Amino acid sequence: MSPDPTHGKKGIVLAGGAGTRLDPLTRVACKQLLPVYDKPMIYYPLSVLMLGDIRDVLIISTPKDLPMFRELFGDGSALGIAIDYAEQSEPRGLAEALIIGEPFLDGSGCCLVLGDNLFHGNLDLFRNALGTERGAAIFAKEVRDPERFGVVEFDAGGRVLSIEEKPQRPRSRFAVPGLYVFDGSAPTRAKRLSPSARGELEIADLILSYHADDQLTAHPLGRGVAWLDTGTPDSLLEAANYIATLQHHGSVQVACLEEIAFERGFIDREALLAHADAQPSRGRGDYLRSRAR
Ligand code: TTP
Repeated sequence: MSPDPTHGKKGIVLAGGAGTRLDPLTRVACKQLLPVYDKPMIYYPLSVLMLGDIRDVLIISTPKDLPMFRELFGDGSALGIAIDYAEQSEPRGLAEALIIGEPFLDGSGCCLVLGDNLFHGNLDLFRNALGTERGAAIFAKEVRDPERFGVVEFDAGGRVLSIEEKPQRPRSRFAVPGLYVFDGSAPTRAKRLSPSARGELEIADLILSYHADDQLTAHPLGRGVAWLDTGTPDSLLEAANYIATLQHHGSVQVACLEEIAFERGFIDREALLAHADAQPSRGRGDYLRSRAR
């Protein structure tokens, strides 16, 4: 058995796209660098990968925005991780991330997270799913407006019956959040897909290819996990308010990457204290110092 509970999985953050629903915010600015309260949006999905003990990460974005991510994170070593970068020249769909990421993955399985998805709460389910050696794992969250998302339908035994992208008449209230676990066959499967009517390589089709081979598991996220997407003005504001409320009423921060790096053992106490000293704002420095226990 591998001593690594993720079986060598790597992480991909897909942070390109058009961001049309946030126009004019995104006319010149990059969506995934917009603030969600006190951090750039991408901190939240990246924190999920780090909490899953994934230390090899690829950030995919547009040719225009990629340099800004590089400037923000560098090679990742300050966080004790390795970050690579790759361009998606046009928004040709979520499943293209697996094709662009193929050289980076080099046969490894991966966790793909969308750069505008925010998860908070008990991530044990996600950690368990990362332990899947073969096949794919998706999650499901009951929502009020499933027609806005990919929708998954289950039978009574939890077996997936169907997955549909933004259906007009959803067959269930379970949306598929932008967090997926794939084995090493994902790039090959993605290359076999044809673009959909809207001209995109659909993640739903990639997931269905695993389903067709009986290699798909779906895990309902219960009340212990909050999932917010941040792709519309309202959801962006709600996400910011959610994080602000949590941080004001508790003593800990959400998606503080330096803290997570320390907690997961990616960096040592000295490195965390060096981060604290380097903070331009006193509050954040004091917070990091308080976590260096
Ligand atoms: P979406 O929210 O579906 O698309 P978008 O960000 O382009 O926004 P809009 O619909 O308002 O135009 O994308 C989900 C995430 O995936 C988001 O972080 C952008 C990213 N993405 C890519 O990086 N490449 C793509 O080809 C697509 C479709 C999305």
